[in-house]
Amino acid sequence: MTKNSSDSLHPIHRDANYTLGRTSHETKRLIEQSKIYGESTRLLCEWAGIHKGMRVLDIGSGAGDVSLMIAEIVGSSGQVVGVDVNPAILETARQRAANVGLKNVEFIAGDARTLHFEDKFDALVGRFVLMYMADPVTALKKLITHLKLDGIVAFQEPEYTLYPAVSHPSTPLMSQLYEWILDVFQHSGAHLDMGIGLYRAFVEIGLPPPEMHLHAPIGAEGDWTGYRYMVTIFQSLLPLIEKYGIATAEEVDVDTLAERLHNEVLLSKRPFFLPLHVTAHARLGS
Ligand SMILES: C[S@@+](CC[C@H](N)C(=O)[O-])C[C@H]1O[C@@H](n2cnc3c(N)ncnc32)[C@H](O)[C@@H]1O
Repeated sequence: MTKNSSDSLHPIHRDANYTLGRTSHETKRLIEQSKIYGESTRLLCEWAGIHKGMRVLDIGSGAGDVSLMIAEIVGSSGQVVGVDVNPAILETARQRAANVGLKNVEFIAGDARTLHFEDKFDALVGRFVLMYMADPVTALKKLITHLKLDGIVAFQEPEYTLYPAVSHPSTPLMSQLYEWILDVFQHSGAHLDMGIGLYRAFVEIGLPPPEMHLHAPIGAEGDWTGYRYMVTIFQSLLPLIEKYGIATAEEVDVDTLAERLHNEVLLSKRPFFLPLHVTAHARLGS
């Protein structure tokens, strides 16, 4: 594993290049991703105390999966505002909200760190977004100013530094895939330890120590959706993997990846882990 210069959440000089791209394929990948990580998001909302009638701000809302889930939770007496720096993906999010008849969710284009809101929110949430910000701690400090005095802060971020633990004893394909993922995220300037780093981010800005959970999607069966999801990650990462000279399209070979992963699981009798992630939540003033 190569050493990441942005370890331990030290601010870096610029936001990460959004590693996974801005294509329609990436929009589809985010929707697939939500099928795998959505259950822990739902648990996070429950543990954090998000409930009917609340007004919630979703940072980096992407194709809208987190916002749409929370719009169901807060119901028609509540409201969700999703913010994303990518205006194109918000068109998909708006369309999806309209398709299911949700009227209590709106999407705003812009950098979440610089937006102004007239009214305060009951909760601030974000999934897989702080890791792309140059200085997540300062960003979080700014973002919580949009909260009421007893507002909820709830984030879900990946944790890539634990990958050696899940790839021991090492299996060649899984180890290789994680090396490539780490390499490309490191080149792009993303914070690889944002999951565990949530603790530091919360306490450094004066929030109470968060309640935290580590989640590990893990599977083995041939029809497990995780194999297919890994393929979609590599379809999104491939342009940068090639650009940074990390590997060639032939070496990654996305067309056979799912089958090779399943074969490795059968041979090694070890299940396959998708990227681990951490949920953290706390309440202002508690
Ligand atoms: C990995 S996606 C996650 C999307 C969504 N939260 C989900 O879990 O499905 C990260 C999203 O954060 C957005 N983003 C990154 N930095 C942002 C910023 N400073 N302000 C608003 N959105 C941002 C990106 O455009 C992207 O859509």
